[in-house]
Amino acid sequence: MNDLLMDNAETTPVITIDGPGGVGKGTISALLAAELDWHYLDSGALYRLTGLACVQKGIALDSNNEVAQIAENLAVQFLPRGDILLEGQEVEALIRTEAAGNNASKVAAIPQVRDALYKRQQAFLQKPGLIADGRDMGTSIFPDASLKIFLTASADERAKRRYKQLIEKGNNVKLADLIVDIQERDERDMNRAASPLKAAEDAIIIDTSDLSIAEVFQEVMRLYKKN
Ligand code: DC
Repeated sequence: MNDLLMDNAETTPVITIDGPGGVGKGTISALLAAELDWHYLDSGALYRLTGLACVQKGIALDSNNEVAQIAENLAVQFLPRGDILLEGQEVEALIRTEAAGNNASKVAAIPQVRDALYKRQQAFLQKPGLIADGRDMGTSIFPDASLKIFLTASADERAKRRYKQLIEKGNNVKLADLIVDIQERDERDMNRAASPLKAAEDAIIIDTSDLSIAEVFQEVMRLYKKN
């Protein structure tokens, strides 16, 4: 680690927000980043972008070394207002589909891909602070984070939330298909050997099934202030 990274790692606060798909991590993380005026790492987007780049280049998602090469060389820019460019092309809508999420979950199970994205994720740690959203933020990428949150909700509840989100964005989806997708994705994310989805031992688990977005946000802010 160079001096600057070392200094950042020791003195810059990180809040990790981990949990399964559709639990509301992205929404809560964006609210926290805006409230605290901190940086935001959407680590899922990096896996989604890797999957998309493979599809665009005709690379099979199970050819581990080639997929890892793609992850290593990903030419991505995160623009301030949420736009994401892949090789200069706006791809936000393309990476948010269910198919892109499933492809992301497949490439994310490849250990070489996780290694290739490791430093890129740590480089998001910049002052004044970072909200890191993903599956392994508290366990692998930022194990020294000052506050670790793990959000949960039942698969049915998460499928309903995702359904609402996708319908609002104009996608044509069926709730029953989303429940199956979410269960399959949970299964793969939790059971892979490399950095599986699980709460860090020192994470605070919040079951969001019966909570509104505002309630989850307030609870995380309360924990941050108390920290
Ligand atoms: O959070 P998301 O839905 O954008 O993530 C898409 C997939 O990427 C998810 O199914 C698993 C993978 N992922 C991961 O393995 N590790 C992360 N830190 C973030 C996402």
